[in-house]
Amino acid sequence: MTQQVVVVGASGFGRESLDVLEAMVAAGADLEVLGVVDDAITSANRARLADRGVAFLGTRTEWLATAPGAVAYVLGIGAPGVRRRLVAELDAVGLRPFTAVHPSATFGARTTLAEGVVVCAGVAVSNNVKLGRHVHVNPNATIGHDADLRDFVSINPAAVISGEVVVGEGTLVGAAATVLQNLTVGEQVVVGAGGVVTKSVPSGVVAVGVPARWEE
Ligand SMILES: CC(C)(COP(=O)(O)OP(=O)(O)OC[C@H]1O[C@@H](n2cnc3c(N)ncnc32)[C@H](O)[C@@H]1OP(=O)(O)O)[C@@H](O)C(=O)NCCC(=O)NCCS
Repeated sequence: MTQQVVVVGASGFGRESLDVLEAMVAAGADLEVLGVVDDAITSANRARLADRGVAFLGTRTEWLATAPGAVAYVLGIGAPGVRRRLVAELDAVGLRPFTAVHPSATFGARTTLAEGVVVCAGVAVSNNVKLGRHVHVNPNATIGHDADLRDFVSINPAAVISGEVVVGEGTLVGAAATVLQNLTVGEQVVVGAGGVVTKSVPSGVVAVGVPARWEE
């Protein structure tokens, strides 16, 4: 049976998630994108959805009132903490996450993707990698062998996660940042865009620069 999918969030990553889903459909996946829900859609984003022929389904409350049942959802939201809150709410009413992978992404052997993962165009994932629940990997990012990305991690465009790296729950790695091999980045860290992480990073800090530095 055709899987119906709704994207939560109409902003940047919401519409990038639509790109992934539409590419999957074009490649033959048996799914139907019903539309987008958003609690505070801007007029610009409403027009952008209309322009590409995607339905706006209303706020989360309005959509949930329609008892969507067997519909699966993709969290099109870049901020890890917001994703964590929404998952609790959506799972509580029995909705299931959808795992969306762009057909141009590549994967090595023995890589596992948990529910709700979104992998965008041009991503390269090596072997023995674990992508936790609702991990987002943005376009052209590279994930090295044996890396372990815990739940709600966001890897922004063109970032490089080297081999054997552990990225803690809820951490965001900024665009074009690099984390060197064998390191651990803690939970709820932000690695600034363009930073190079050369030492393990404790939880809850913002690490920026080359080499990356942070205040504890
Ligand atoms: C690091 C980051 C989280 C800081 O955000 P912020 O708290 O709003 O910081 P501000 O923009 O107020 O900048 C604070 C200071 O940090 C510096 N700074 C900001 N981002 C930086 C970065 N990536 N690397 C080095 N320095 C940075 C600013 O120049 C500023 O320095 P100053 O105090 O000497 O003027 C953010 O800039 C960042 O890099 N986020 C990742 C974003 C990303 O990946 N975007 C692409 C999305 S697709």
